[in-house]
Amino acid sequence: MKVSSSLEQQVLSFLLDGGEEPLPAEMVAKKLGVPATETHKALEGLRSRGYRIEARGKGFRLTGFPERLGEYELEPLLQTRELGRALRYFDETTSTSEIAWRAAEEGAPHGLVVIADQQTRGRGRHGRTWLSPPGVNLYLSLVLRPDVPPARAPELTLLAAVALCEAIRDTGCERARIKWPNDVEIGAHKAAGVLTELSADERGVSFVVVGIGLDVNMGAEDLPEEIKTVATSVRIALGKPYPRARLLARLLERFETWLDRWEDEGFGAVRARWTALSSTVGSRVRLMLDGRQLEGRAEGIDEAGHLVVRTEQGGLEHVVAGDVKTLRAAD
Ligand code: BTN
Repeated sequence: MKVSSSLEQQVLSFLLDGGEEPLPAEMVAKKLGVPATETHKALEGLRSRGYRIEARGKGFRLTGFPERLGEYELEPLLQTRELGRALRYFDETTSTSEIAWRAAEEGAPHGLVVIADQQTRGRGRHGRTWLSPPGVNLYLSLVLRPDVPPARAPELTLLAAVALCEAIRDTGCERARIKWPNDVEIGAHKAAGVLTELSADERGVSFVVVGIGLDVNMGAEDLPEEIKTVATSVRIALGKPYPRARLLARLLERFETWLDRWEDEGFGAVRARWTALSSTVGSRVRLMLDGRQLEGRAEGIDEAGHLVVRTEQGGLEHVVAGDVKTLRAAD
């Protein structure tokens, strides 16, 4: 459901575009065709919703964002054509991917985004649990209806990792890299993951649900003991919190841009960008495959997105799925 643009949201759009410079309230009122008193009321309304707005002379400047993450916060920031234009927001749900899957079965459109502030049954890859506490991170699932044969659907997982890595870099975390196939790491610690689920039959792809979990404002103190040494968040990396709604809007924009390129240019463009952002390619890696251990040097990904590993015996293996460990000098 699209939120209609209220005066508060229009004023917010001005503040967002205004950047560091204070915006004269008179000018905003004139542009919106409303009395200045209405603009002031809208500014007060925004403050009561958690936006920090500094008054300077006769102007105003946005200095802080609310912690809440809903349609109201997202809508003025979102510049996509399709992704997130249909949106379902939950303060708490089981799993956004579960909800998105059900919605897709009931005919939800391409681009539906399901977001939750908290998940009680967040799912990770390989049947793992995805830690989903309230108020700090991003948990979202997208319904996509690409016109491709089912064999090409896994390309979307790599595309999602590219969009995710770029959106994290946009926050200032320039060290964000992709670990095959679709984790995003900052330094050697995981900050985000992607879980792709496909519904297809002999006629082709019916829909794909891309679930994304991104640790945004979780502090080191919030990380449970068992993942302290392997996980991180944007806040930990930046040393300060980052507005979740802004990161979500950026992620959806990056995602849409890559979907457009994927449709126009095919997988090649995604593959090249994935490779450039990858921490796996060029590294020594170890993988467990059906009980057998494979070690070698990751040379790249093939046309299907499989990891190409040059083994120590000199042969090439194309790995379809698995958990990869990047080996460092001490390993
Ligand atoms: C991974 O294991 O790396 C993938 C994690 C994916 C987690 C996200 S959070 C939003 C969506 N809903 C879920 O239950 N899982 C995905």
